[in-house]
Amino acid sequence: MTSKRGKFITFEGLDGCGKTTQLEKLATVLKREGHDVVITREPGGTAIGEKIRAVLLDSRTAGLAPLAELALMFASRAQQIHQVILPALKQGKFVLCDRFTDSSEAYQGGGRQLGSKAVLQLHKVLCGDLQPDLTILMISDAATVHRARKREDRKRDAGKSDEGRFEMEAAEFFDRVLKAYLAIAKRKPSRVVKVNAGQSIAAVHHEIMKAFRKRVLASARNS
Ligand code: TYD
Repeated sequence: MTSKRGKFITFEGLDGCGKTTQLEKLATVLKREGHDVVITREPGGTAIGEKIRAVLLDSRTAGLAPLAELALMFASRAQQIHQVILPALKQGKFVLCDRFTDSSEAYQGGGRQLGSKAVLQLHKVLCGDLQPDLTILMISDAATVHRARKREDRKRDAGKSDEGRFEMEAAEFFDRVLKAYLAIAKRKPSRVVKVNAGQSIAAVHHEIMKAFRKRVLASARNS
């Protein structure tokens, strides 16, 4: 067993930007190269977190106060850090997480207009200020959210799942989310890499692999 701490990689962006596809492609490459990889997501990623996710994303959840929404996001995250992320990092694994605290800063801080300060304070208290080694921020505009909304509508109509509560928000909400994401990228240039999500899947993957090899594998070799 290796004594080296693993690496924590997060994927961020607006709904429908294609981050889940890209996360899976990176995981496939890493596994092929013989690395231990843990894939997870937020909200969710644990049995308790998935219950919280169901409340947060169900479009029938009405009247949830913005601060209560933020608290639930962090409840799911605190559980996930304790149960999944820290144990995997201790075992030297790669942890790939679909969304993390940047999502709270962008959606609740920006979209819901709660501001960054409250989010960052909660992150310190509830998450021990855990920082990803690399964050891939996929840049797309509110039009991609429209596609995500259609996908959720189809699933709901087929009686499959209902995870459309955020996709129902107006374009101005997602403009604020994107603006908050861009501010994070500006503040944290050594952690956050912006990738244009409007390219082909292969081109986006290529850019992500380049950033990953430069920023994560190189530093793993040097540590
Ligand atoms: P996700 O399953 O990644 O949706 P998609 O695949 O459509 O991008 O994320 C679920 C939703 O939860 C998404 O609309 C963003 C929102 N969210 C927040 O508002 N705050 C958070 O802290 C997190 C983790 C997610």
